[in-house]
Amino acid sequence: MLQLTDFSTRLIAWQRVHGRHDLPWQNTRDAYRIWLSEIMLQQTQVSTVIPYYVRFLDRFPTVNALAFAPLDDVMALWAGLGYYSRARNLHRCAFVVSTEHGSEFPRSVEELAELPGIGRSTAAAIASFAFGARATILDGNVKRVLARVFGIDGFPGEKRVEITMWTLAESLLPDAAHKDEVTAYTQGLMDLGATLCVRGKPDCARCPFAADCVANVTGRQKELPTSRPKKMVPTRKTWMLVLQDGNSVLLEKRPPTGIWGGLWSLPEAQDEDALAAVSHSFGGSAELQRLTPFTHTFTHFKLDIEPRLGRANGVPEAADNKTVWAPLANIDAYGVPAPVRKLLDALQGSLI
Ligand code: ADE
Repeated sequence: MLQLTDFSTRLIAWQRVHGRHDLPWQNTRDAYRIWLSEIMLQQTQVSTVIPYYVRFLDRFPTVNALAFAPLDDVMALWAGLGYYSRARNLHRCAFVVSTEHGSEFPRSVEELAELPGIGRSTAAAIASFAFGARATILDGNVKRVLARVFGIDGFPGEKRVEITMWTLAESLLPDAAHKDEVTAYTQGLMDLGATLCVRGKPDCARCPFAADCVANVTGRQKELPTSRPKKMVPTRKTWMLVLQDGNSVLLEKRPPTGIWGGLWSLPEAQDEDALAAVSHSFGGSAELQRLTPFTHTFTHFKLDIEPRLGRANGVPEAADNKTVWAPLANIDAYGVPAPVRKLLDALQGSLI
């Protein structure tokens, strides 16, 4: 296991040589510029942000210029960046800084995090880059790095996993050190996540943690971080009757709406006894033979199907158009749901 003290030392050394040093919002301690870049960089790539950032600063060079500009002007300059609530919060935040903080961004993570549009991680990034604060960031890129290097299982969007990651991220911070070390550390985390430890094809060969990284050592880069769990779908269960009369089976027209609306299918019931009664009502045996159950997946639920085979003998066609005795060799002529069709196909050989 990687020693926690080694982590920051190694990351800082790597950042100084291989990290990014010339992004337009680097090499400044101007909190306004840093804040603006961090908001724009939420959910948006560096290459997309750069031209917007430059235009924005040109039009609104200070927090006051932004605070007292019409919202429409702000929105117009934001157009194309997406997530427009960021722009509205940006404008509100500038106004609060101008009017309630004497046009200076507060220096503590706690106060920064109270401003509109600034969450815990963004507050830490601003405090770290602008004021050299020893503050912990944890955005999506950092979560990916930590999940891989330290082998943290579980979806990072889950509260329990997120708490684990915040605790780990805090323990990894370099000791109270020079301002530029905190900056290099924070930037290093971002740079590693954005340039090497990327989601698709991480460049482990060039990573300073390759020898210790749990994901690299165990070949689990694709599994870490754990993806968002698939939505649970409910399961229903139904009993289906294959009522055989000679070479034919009984099909029943389904109601026009709902699943398999208007198709020809097998009669159904909610349990075994009810299905026996259905069989009896169609002139079939109440004695039913168990067939192999199977599951059909719909978009919003799964259907566990328990098929049962019943026997009938010379039952006449009903006159109501809701049921039909369909020859097994001619099931094609009816609109039958695919899983029912498969069941009948599988049975065809053995029934006849
Ligand atoms: N993503 C979020 N903040 C960033 C920063 N300061 N530099 C590069 N990418 C970032």
